[in-house]
Amino acid sequence: MKIDILTLFPEMFEGFLTESIIKRAIEKDIVEVNIINFRDYTTDSHGKVDSTPFGGGAGMVLQIEPIYNALMDIKKDDSHVILLTPSGKTFNQKKARELSKKKHIILICGHYEGFDYRIKNLVDEEVSIGDFVLTGGELPSMMISDAIIRLLPNAISSDSLESESFDDGLLDYPVYTKPRDFKGMKVPDVLLSGNHAKIEEYRELERKRITEEKLKSEND
Ligand code: ADE
Repeated sequence: MKIDILTLFPEMFEGFLTESIIKRAIEKDIVEVNIINFRDYTTDSHGKVDSTPFGGGAGMVLQIEPIYNALMDIKKDDSHVILLTPSGKTFNQKKARELSKKKHIILICGHYEGFDYRIKNLVDEEVSIGDFVLTGGELPSMMISDAIIRLLPNAISSDSLESESFDDGLLDYPVYTKPRDFKGMKVPDVLLSGNHAKIEEYRELERKRITEEKLKSEND
């Protein structure tokens, strides 16, 4: 898979691409990630990519031209183009699975006060990571790339992807490790029993309990 990220702030991606599972997935050629500064595609002699809004209003608006030029350069027939914006459809694990099947994903990070509305005509879909406003699409693009990359074959062990949170509508069961007793907080006896049927049953019940608890807390 190839992921191209269009941004004005390439340095924000350094840590993300050079640590842990993402770093290893890149090294193992499971994914290719390219950070593309779309300022390189402006025809403005001063490198400007934004301008004041027609009709007046606060702030600067990202122009369509540099985004269009960048897409003309990198987009292929099998590319899937996503615009990160709070007004997009909210990202979730189902969307991560769907996107992990694509060959080439292009993520466009908006910034400043907004972008020329016509940019919407250049993309396949608009995605938000939640009902809050960030300073730009960089963090959302990293979150979405992370959620996709860990699902790619051999990025992490396939055991870790089994019975994952959200896949069947339920959250994952809780896990514990040494010590058995930490300042009076004990590991549940059933997990130390060696009885695998009982452990399985306990874990299924815990998944339901934790999911219900989350749903309840979200309605509070
Ligand atoms: N850009 C700014 N806020 C965002 C959000 N919540 N989701 C996606 N892109 C964004």
